[in-house]
Amino acid sequence: MTSTSYFGVDPGNFSIHWPGEAQFGPGCVDSLAQWASAWNVRKPILISDQGIIDSGLLAPVLELLRASGAEPVIYGGVEANPTISNVVLAKAVWHSQDCDGLIAFGGGSVIDVSKILLAHLCSDAPIVDVLKDGDALLVRPLPPFAAVPTTAGTGSESTTAALIKDEFGRKHVMRSRRCRPQWIALDPRLTLSVPRSVSACTGFDVVMHALGAATNRASNPLGEILAIDALSRSLRALPTVLNDLKNLDARTELMLASYLAGVAMSLRGVDGIHGLCTPLESVVEAPHAHVLAVVCEPLMRFNLETMAPCYARLAVSCGIVSGETSIRDQAHSLIEAICNLRELACLPRSLDDIGANLEAMPSVYEAARTNASLRLNGRQLSQDDIVTVYAAMRGANHKENS
Ligand SMILES: [Fe+2]
Repeated sequence: MTSTSYFGVDPGNFSIHWPGEAQFGPGCVDSLAQWASAWNVRKPILISDQGIIDSGLLAPVLELLRASGAEPVIYGGVEANPTISNVVLAKAVWHSQDCDGLIAFGGGSVIDVSKILLAHLCSDAPIVDVLKDGDALLVRPLPPFAAVPTTAGTGSESTTAALIKDEFGRKHVMRSRRCRPQWIALDPRLTLSVPRSVSACTGFDVVMHALGAATNRASNPLGEILAIDALSRSLRALPTVLNDLKNLDARTELMLASYLAGVAMSLRGVDGIHGLCTPLESVVEAPHAHVLAVVCEPLMRFNLETMAPCYARLAVSCGIVSGETSIRDQAHSLIEAICNLRELACLPRSLDDIGANLEAMPSVYEAARTNASLRLNGRQLSQDDIVTVYAAMRGANHKENS
């Protein structure tokens, strides 16, 4: 099943799948122990990473879980770019400790590893097959699974996707509706200590998710509404967060935007910005948001030819511009808003900035050709178009290509 068919592009044919129950608001993480008791989880594996453990965020949660009679077992080995070996090690802990539930406590990498672990636990197939076929290979009932995101970014708590690298550095995306957490605590207090550079990257990812889900060719009107709302919230909240990291209102807004963008993506997928980003990520070491920042402007300018009305509608909906100027001007104002945000977030804008090796680009073009998100892009790209848009990422002045 390709992503294109997973999301559906036939007008009038779409499906609606919701993620699990989400608790929202400052302090809601304190309900985690009640969730564990309600599901009779006595020995959860708590999946996290060393940064979160060192931050001290986990300590009060562990205390509450223990006070309720649970005996959490910590696996804190998730890497920033998680690998299949993270899942294998967590699975060994699960079996050796006889665990009976999962708690993901961390950013997108932690939640992705937990989703893949859940699938691995419920399937007899090799992990590479589980990554490819997802729900189709789950043969056992899923154990209880809760997630507590500590960043507002990937929206992994509400998306159907989980990313992981194999031992050769290749990225795999598992798609599974069933392996999403059944209970989520969206507690914006947990994001208050996220440093500016990380907030910039995760927040820009939210904007790109919302934009992609709002503008692609998939035919899910509910997902479109959620995506537009998430875009409006994230464009409003991210500059405030970047100027005032401890602003709880803006952090709250961004966390909600991240979750809503995740739901929108689970219904509609994304667009060519992620479609051109993923192949590049196989040949550069830069963070996801850095690659998105390089890709977004040239692709949006390429898209203008057919998508100006769509961009214009978004610019007006998000309050960037009034509806009294021309469609073209309104559409340009959306691109300018994204570029200004990229500037404020101190993110790169060219292939040079992310250390891309131009000799590797032919393999990038080839991978992009079959990328499912690129096929969902609002304006279709020929192979020549793909090369042209990547070429526009080399120069500093993307406007030349508009
Ligand atoms: Fe992303």
